[in-house]
Amino acid sequence: MYESYYGLSDKPFKLSPDPQFFFESAHHSKAISYLRYGLELGEGFIVVTGPIGTGKTTIARSLIVSLDESITAAQIATTRLNPEQLVTMVAANFGLQVEGLNKADILRRLENYFFALYQQGKRALLIIDEAQNLSAETIEELRMLSNFQADGKPLIQSFLLGQEELKPIIELPEMEQFRQRIIASCHLKSFNIDETKNYILHRLRTVGWNENPSLDSDIFDLITNYTGGIPRKINIFMDRLFLYAFMEGIGTITLDHIQSIIEELGEELSGGLKARRPEPTAFSPLGIKAQEMMPDVHIPDMDRAHRTLMDVMKVLDEEIYRKTMTLKNLDKMIVKKRNELSQVSEPSFLDNTYRKK
Ligand SMILES: Nc1ncnc2c1ncn2[C@@H]1O[C@H](COP(=O)(O)OP(=O)(O)OP(=O)(O)O)[C@@H](O)[C@H]1O
Ligand SMILES: [Mg+2]
Repeated sequence: MYESYYGLSDKPFKLSPDPQFFFESAHHSKAISYLRYGLELGEGFIVVTGPIGTGKTTIARSLIVSLDESITAAQIATTRLNPEQLVTMVAANFGLQVEGLNKADILRRLENYFFALYQQGKRALLIIDEAQNLSAETIEELRMLSNFQADGKPLIQSFLLGQEELKPIIELPEMEQFRQRIIASCHLKSFNIDETKNYILHRLRTVGWNENPSLDSDIFDLITNYTGGIPRKINIFMDRLFLYAFMEGIGTITLDHIQSIIEELGEELSGGLKARRPEPTAFSPLGIKAQEMMPDVHIPDMDRAHRTLMDVMKVLDEEIYRKTMTLKNLDKMIVKKRNELSQVSEPSFLDNTYRKK
């Protein structure tokens, strides 16, 4: 809504993990470099962990869009999967027909598929997001998948991205074999003040921001403090701030405006709003929760629904924008009329006064 008012080409602080906005902070670049290094080696596991909302899914998306044709990638966002469900989902995500097959059959089909890719000079890459929800047993199944080999090289490679709870799972004594196959791991951290500032400016410049509204240099300290330097929280905060600036017709955002938004949001971002997601409730016949059956990519229906929702949001945004502009114009007209009236009434008042004299 505010984007047209400030001449921006898109919403700068969207909540979707959009690679177009990817900001290479030190930690994010390190994570991406490790993943690329892993791809070059073509073997072993890479683990990226980080607190909620720090950019794990964004990293996965950014990596996927940068892959060339030699890599066939599938991405799974898991909730809780047992080993059999994992194998089923992996196969389905690589586009294999697995209905009615038992685990051994699915594994055979997967191996044949990976080998066919290998013969075409391609490699399979599996990206598991939300990996903190996997049990040790399911992670062990992943390790078994990496045992499919040709010429001594694994036919499939896996990257695991997950919240901090993933670390203690990997550290369990029974995970020793898996641990020995991890070639790199890194941990994302929240932004410090400089990174928060650069992140905000980066997102704004991506949509053609021309210092309108301009941002006072002393606002970033408080923004970092309030949002904890968590990118998702920064986005929510900045979106609210820009909406406020637009409503008030503000040309320069100052510390006072930041204070106002903090008062408005209260505890929402500093404590309460922790990016919690509702637990899935619907169950499929296979016993896989609905969310588990929805990988992040390659699902045309989901993409279509998402696009429709985005379109509806855009129309609503434009409508609100039009209405707000109408209200603003009405306000201006009222002020103008008042001025005109006072100019008209003053001389007549004076006339009357003089006439009385
Ligand atoms: N490096 C980055 N560059 C640009 N935007 C980012 C970056 N990191 C995070 N974001 C933004 O922050 C928000 C949260 O990112 P993302 O969904 O990737 O976090 P996450 O770590 O996967 O969260 P969760 O733990 O809830 O799965 C998104 O709006 C995303 O666009
Ligand atoms: Mg995520």
